[in-house]
Amino acid sequence: MFGRKETQWYLLFSSEQKAIENLPENKVIEIEVAGKELSILRHAAGYFVTNNKCPHQGLPLSRGGFCENGNIVCPFHRYSWDLKTGRETRRNEANMEIYPIKITDEGFFIGIERKRGLFGIW
Ligand code: FES
Repeated sequence: MFGRKETQWYLLFSSEQKAIENLPENKVIEIEVAGKELSILRHAAGYFVTNNKCPHQGLPLSRGGFCENGNIVCPFHRYSWDLKTGRETRRNEANMEIYPIKITDEGFFIGIERKRGLFGIW
């Protein structure tokens, strides 16, 4: 009702090189950013950041999640979501929220949308 949304950018790595060194390809890694439990995946076409809780039953993607054919696959029941759109690919499950990434000379950032009201960020 009041306020507007804006993206806050959080530094995760000092450079893309540091991201590459710390993120094994095709393996989902749990991270915490601004108090949120997220997961990050480095894959052949780039990076993917979403909530660590799987939309299916809320189990952690970081316990063995991986990339297959352009999708992120949850290790528990093997549902999969498109890395570009966040859409579930076969069973009409809820979509994954995708968090934006920004890589600049200052580092590797993850964007989280926050509501801004009269008295600051919520
Ligand atoms: S908890 Fe991820 S597919 Fe079921």
